[in-house]
Formats: sequence, C-alpha cells, structure tokens
Amino acid sequence: MLAKIEQLLQEVENITASNADELEALRIKYLSKKGAINALMADFRNVPAEQKKEVGMKLNELKNRAQERIAELKDAFDSKDTGAAELDLTRTAYPIELGTRHPLNIVRNEIIDIFGRMGFTIADGPEVEDDWHVFSSMNFAEDHPARDMQDTFFIESHPDIILRTHTSSVQSRVMEVSQPPIRVICPGRVYRNEAISYRAHCFFHQVEGLYIDKNVSFTDLKQVLLQFAQEMFGPETKIRLRPSYFPFTEPSAEMDISCDICGGKGCAFCKYTGWVEILGCGMVDPAVLEANGIDSKVYTGYAFGMGVERITNLKYKVKDLRMFSENDTRFLKEFESAN
Ligand code: DAH
Repeated sequence: MLAKIEQLLQEVENITASNADELEALRIKYLSKKGAINALMADFRNVPAEQKKEVGMKLNELKNRAQERIAELKDAFDSKDTGAAELDLTRTAYPIELGTRHPLNIVRNEIIDIFGRMGFTIADGPEVEDDWHVFSSMNFAEDHPARDMQDTFFIESHPDIILRTHTSSVQSRVMEVSQPPIRVICPGRVYRNEAISYRAHCFFHQVEGLYIDKNVSFTDLKQVLLQFAQEMFGPETKIRLRPSYFPFTEPSAEMDISCDICGGKGCAFCKYTGWVEILGCGMVDPAVLEANGIDSKVYTGYAFGMGVERITNLKYKVKDLRMFSENDTRFLKEFESAN
C-alpha cells in the first residue's frame, strides 16, 4: 500500500495539462469518487492496525498534494490561457462602419486644392494668439473702432492673449519669418463672441490668402479670385468686387459671385440681387508690410479671406450653421457621396 501511495505521489508531482479538458480528466482520475485516491481510501480498512498511522498520514499527504497540483495547473491556465480553446478563428470580423468626411473639411480641402494648383502653399498659426498678431500688426490702431468689428474673446488674467478672430493673424506670422516671394493660404478656426443662432456661431472657419512679391497688382488678385470662383462654383460663375474697408488692405473690396441658384436672375436666396457675397480682399496695406518687416517700397501684395461655412452653405445649402458642430450623423451622412 505504501509503495502504491509513493508511486501515485510521484505521478501527481509530474502531471501536466494543456487545456481544461485534460485537467478535468486528471481530476477525475485522481480525485473523483471513483478515482485512484478514493480507491486507496477504501482499501485503508485492510491496512494492519500498526501501520494505520503511517499509511493514513501518507494517504492524506497524497490527497492534499493532488488537490494542490490540480489547483496549480488550473491557476496557470486561468492566468495565461484567455480561452484560446474558445477562440473561433473562422468567425468573420466585426463590421467596421466607415465614417464620412465633415462637409467643412470637404470644402476646405477643395479650397486648398484649387489654390494649391495655383502655387499657394499652406501656412499655419496658433488659435490662441496675442493682440499683436491679430490686431496691431494688421494695422488696427490701439483705439481704432475697427477693433469693434470683431467681437473678441479675451482672457481675463492676460488681456494681451486672445482667441484669434480671423486667420489674418497668420499673415503676420508668415511675414515675420519669411521674405517675399510669399504665396500662402492659411486655413483655420477662428472665434468670435457672438450669440449662437442659425446664422452665427462663436467659432467658425476661414481660409486666408496672401501673395507678396515685386509688382503684384490688383489685376492679379482679381484673376486669381475669378479662377477660384469658377473652379469652386462652376465655369459660368461671374464675380464682382464692391469697395469696402479693412484696416489691413488698401484698397479693400468684398467679392460677390453670381447666385448659383438662380444663375443671377434673382431669387429669395440672393435676395433678388443675383449676387451673393463670399469673401473680403484687397491690396496689403504698406503699413502692414512695414510692421511685419517687409520693405513696402520694393514689394506689394494682395490678401483675401473667406469663411468656409459661408462657402459650404452656398455649395450645399445648409440652412442652419449649428448643424456643422452638432455631430448629428444623419446630417453628416448626407455628405457621403461628396467624400
Ligand atoms: N479678416 C477678415 C474678416 O475676418 C477677412 C479678410 C478681409 C481677410 C480682407 C483678408 C482681406 O485678407 O484682405 O472679416
């Protein structure tokens, strides 16, 4: 009997199992009612009285060891085996729904493409800006009422730090680190302290354009903008420039395109004028060139700035500006085919 117990002890020390089924088989073999250890227990009553103590202790040791070993093997699997046996490698993958590009990004990319083909590269600047880049360097005098044209978000503890109200600040960022020829467009987000409604939001997107070189003229500006309008809205599109005022350009203009809903005949969308406004532009004011380290006697330039929401509205007839930032997938999905 003792020899048999010793042999089983040896066996139990060496058991291994590579999956849960094998382990269960071992448990049945050694520890179940009909298992090897119980069989020995049953035989125990035949052990001579003087050996009972020794055999009994050995038998208990065997039972404990068997239980421990099985528990050890089970632990080893629970921690390392995360159910490999249940992994179904033939199962198809989860369906991954593809998102759609945001309409504002579709339009911004198209603007970038059009100007890219005309040789403009992209420039970038911070959204949290200082007064200098947003206003002073762009020829807004300290107490000039033009600053009221744009409702600025200020940071109370740092009056000099603001959220940029226009991407014109990037003009200054570019000029201060480079010399002409400069030909950039600057897409980006801007912020204004406006009550949110269907036609105004506290943040929106603009694309700024800047071209500075020798002999840049208003004619160049007009031609580039006509080219842009026709690529964006179709080859029949006409443009017109109305005199306007911006502190950073002189002369300044606002550009309208012929209404692409009525083809210029007049409709409710264009308020029966046949024209809709899409951007501001002008010749860079010499004071702006000088403030940003560019010799205004040698160089001239033009600049323009447009709202991406405005152009998206014209192209896709989105009635409510707030739709752009609500992330309603039913709205976003409508642009699937434009992606
Ligand atoms: N910064 C102007 C705005 O936010 C837009 C603009 C007008 C930009 C004329 C220009 C420009 O570069 O020449 O309303």
